[in-house]
Amino acid sequence: MKLSQAVTLAVLCGTLPAIQATPTPAASSALPTGTSVVSGANALATAVGKLYFGSATDNPELTDTTYMTYLNSSQHFGQITPENSMKWDATEPEVNTFTFTEGDQIADLAKSNGQILRGHNLVWYQQLPDWVTSNDYNATGLTAVIQNHIAGVAGHYKGQPYSWDVVNEPLNDDGSFRSDVFYDTLGESYISIALNAAHEADPNAKLYINEYNIEYTGTKSTAMQSLVTTLQADGVPIDGIGMESHFIVGEVPTTLVENFQAFADLGVEIAITELDIRMTLPETAALLEQQKQDFYTVVDACLQVSACKGITVWDWTDKYSWVPSTFSGQGAATPFDDPAFDGIVMALKGQSLS
Ligand code: G3I
Repeated sequence: MKLSQAVTLAVLCGTLPAIQATPTPAASSALPTGTSVVSGANALATAVGKLYFGSATDNPELTDTTYMTYLNSSQHFGQITPENSMKWDATEPEVNTFTFTEGDQIADLAKSNGQILRGHNLVWYQQLPDWVTSNDYNATGLTAVIQNHIAGVAGHYKGQPYSWDVVNEPLNDDGSFRSDVFYDTLGESYISIALNAAHEADPNAKLYINEYNIEYTGTKSTAMQSLVTTLQADGVPIDGIGMESHFIVGEVPTTLVENFQAFADLGVEIAITELDIRMTLPETAALLEQQKQDFYTVVDACLQVSACKGITVWDWTDKYSWVPSTFSGQGAATPFDDPAFDGIVMALKGQSLS
């Protein structure tokens, strides 16, 4: 189904809320049933003290007028994250040659919509241009490369992002440091080099490390907490930890709240940065119902921990989800064109699912 048809149908059926000109306050009772028009997710999230409810987006989508009607709505989205266009391959494809056209498009969109921008990301082993890995830099050379990249990118956007994912996915699932060009050349010092460079480039941005499989208690989460403690002890600026939250229907972790609180107790903020909950296709009523409960669980966990600043879905419609191209036979991972949206709304309204 085309997005425009899906949106029309979903609005009519009540699974996708209509855009309202003025956000209404969270209703205290009525469930978002098939015919009710509800406040948007961001209006509800901010009403209960969160900074935002947001979405990732990517440049090719920005010409889709139906899609943009929703993305532009600060009722629904108070924050956006560029899904690809601020990454290293997009911003510094050649040594010291910076391109900001696509990143600027997203940054300008956030500005014109009054939406918070999360910068994503500065140092990651993926989407790295070949020159970073093939030049065989020694430690001094790679340090300069990291510092120059961060000064260039975070410096260009200085003052605009609320936060930057400075280091993305530094850990293996067993809690050890991931072997990549950065770690292999500099050891774990690349993380402090990057965070210090980001602080210098944009002193007011919240500096995050963003990671997956740390949303729940366990070895990898404990390792990330140790990293935070070490960075803090060394006086390295670290403000937040991003919980990516790419989950599977029926397998949402049961220790989210306890785990989020453990990070909060270290004095860092957290954010749910890339939420989606995929299923093996085709969709069934049972899977969609479980997914609704799963989105409820994740949003409710963020509400229970004050250090959890906001929730970002990794795009809001299945039309632009990264999931089907990566996980064969899986999809329907985004919430806004599914009953999952009701789960989000009910959690934000403090309503029980049962
Ligand atoms: O830009 C090229 C384009 O020139 C080319 O024609 C096209 C052909 O396939 O590919 C385009 O690049 C793609 C890029 O997205 C931009 O669309 C890459 O192939 C594709 O691999 C890349 O996927 C992105 C992925 O990160 C890369 O690892 C996804 O869109 C993006 O959603 C995903 O996001 C990551 C977060 O950054 C970090 N956490 C995990 C998350 C999901 O993997």
